[in-house]
Amino acid sequence: QVLTDPADVNAAVAREIAELIRVRQAEGKTCVLGLATGSTPTGVYAELVRMHKEEGLSFKNVVSFNLDEYFPMQPNELQSYHRFMNEHLFSHIDIDPKNVHVPDGTLSIEEVPHYCQAYEKAIRDAGGIDIQLLGIGRTGHIGFNEPGSGKGSRTRLIWLDRKTRIDAASDFFGMENVPTKAITMGVGTILDARRIIMMAFGEGKARISAEAIEGEVTPVVAASFLQDHPNAQVMLDSAAAAHL
Ligand code: GLP
Repeated sequence: QVLTDPADVNAAVAREIAELIRVRQAEGKTCVLGLATGSTPTGVYAELVRMHKEEGLSFKNVVSFNLDEYFPMQPNELQSYHRFMNEHLFSHIDIDPKNVHVPDGTLSIEEVPHYCQAYEKAIRDAGGIDIQLLGIGRTGHIGFNEPGSGKGSRTRLIWLDRKTRIDAASDFFGMENVPTKAITMGVGTILDARRIIMMAFGEGKARISAEAIEGEVTPVVAASFLQDHPNAQVMLDSAAAAHL
């Protein structure tokens, strides 16, 4: 779906999320959200915060799983995705902190494989992800599934692509400070979600969005695997849709 203005995309995505939260609330059930970081989803989070404050939308029945975190990374560091999520969403809403899951960047490298298995199990135990939000990186990554990530890949430690580290350089005040690794949900983990919404804004995302949507389904562009999902939607502004 292409909408002229990113604000319209944000409103539509936030509305869909809010509706599902309310339906589940009425049924006395939880709503499991897969959440993303980066500049792309911030407008959706702002809209959800507004709905909480102005319309009384409650997140008490929401369980969340974030896609990824840099490794190593302390949760209070400026570039931490824990901190990002707190600043943009969690600290402004009534979600129960024990229902929030963001991959842990503070582990020792030996602890990571077991931790990643436990992250997968926690998602399954929560009933699976109802709606997964995604942005897209210039390498075609979703989460941090860099080129080479297979369709069946699960939560794991991954080496970041050079392009991704260049794009993150300004956040880290120089590329030499950007971590070389991250923990990310796998492509398979993402594809298990019952509904997937990927968003892309701006001309910088036009080429890779077209490759993901209309190109070959290939591990070279992890987002291309969304073509095989029965309930995935890509929402773009006009600039990001320019190469379609
Ligand atoms: C990072 C995140 C991705 C995100 C991407 C794009 O690499 N790990 O989940 O989609 O950045 O970021 P932005 O939305 O700022 O363009």
